Amino acid sequence: MSKTDTSTFESAPTAAPTWFEHLDETVDTILKNDPAARSRLEVILCYPGLHAVMAYRIANVFYKAKSYTLARLISQWARTMTGIEIHPGATIGRRFIIDHGMGVVIGETTEIGNDCFIYQGVTLGAGAEARQGEQSRNTKRHPTLGNGVVVGSGAEIQGAITVSDNARVASGSIVLKDVPPNSTVVGMPGRVIYRDGQRINEKLPDIEAEAIKSLKNRIEVLETLLRQLQGENETNLASDSIKPQEQDKLDWLDGNTESDSKEDPVEVFLQGAGI
Ligand SMILES: CC(C)(COP(=O)(O)OP(=O)(O)OC[C@H]1O[C@@H](n2cnc3c(N)ncnc32)[C@H](O)[C@@H]1OP(=O)(O)O)[C@@H](O)C(=O)NCCC(=O)NCCS
Repeated sequence: MSKTDTSTFESAPTAAPTWFEHLDETVDTILKNDPAARSRLEVILCYPGLHAVMAYRIANVFYKAKSYTLARLISQWARTMTGIEIHPGATIGRRFIIDHGMGVVIGETTEIGNDCFIYQGVTLGAGAEARQGEQSRNTKRHPTLGNGVVVGSGAEIQGAITVSDNARVASGSIVLKDVPPNSTVVGMPGRVIYRDGQRINEKLPDIEAEAIKSLKNRIEVLETLLRQLQGENETNLASDSIKPQEQDKLDWLDGNTESDSKEDPVEVFLQGAGI
């Protein structure tokens, strides 16, 4: 499914929509945004994200009426059917879309604005506060998403932080701090790389590549030292005393092999292969 068209967000009307109005406009939004959706019937029957959100809208009514166990039962039934766990105490705005959905977790004090769009595997979870157990009951522990927020697959947003209007969180990011409006966050931990359409962070550090680079530098220093020692002992070292497999390694280090002299795997990785 394509991303939500953030240019068409509408502010919520004063009268709360009925369950059927929620259903109607959410189906419309899916049809508008998902090129794979062919008909209203298909969306109503085959979209687990829609099923989970509509079940939440029923569970939330019971939660507000303090029928907590019944509310949780509905929520857990929906989880069993869809793989999406939405706590009935969460506050969710209009036209909320969960694409695919499996593995989504939305915690009790999460607040979600209108026209938000999340993919499978997203967690809107509690931060460290949750470890305080019942002391933190009835306190805000989960994130707040503004209007028009997009969260990519597998992203984790944890704690009572705010992801402001029209922010975009890339797949696999871990976000533990507030995110400004109209920005794009990527990485682990999440960093803002775009704000108001402007790139504000030229290059994200690639920690694995840096570590490998540092190891490579050290190995090169050791090789230089080894060669110096080898040079000092050259007169004492008869070439026929080097075993064939050792000679192969020395040739590889010197780049003398015919087949893969340019295929140093560390160089290949540092040039971006596999990214
Ligand atoms: C995060 C997202 C909303 C940003 O959308 P956007 O504003 O149109 O921007 P782009 O997709 O062009 O990405 C912006 C930058 O973030 C980078 N980026 C995107 N996703 C990233 C990720 N998961 N990790 C690291 N960087 C990422 C892009 O490479 C790009 O960098 P560049 O400007 O240096 O080329 C979009 O990438 C998205 O929708 N991701 C989720 C997709 C998803 O979950 N798909 C699952 C389908 S089943």
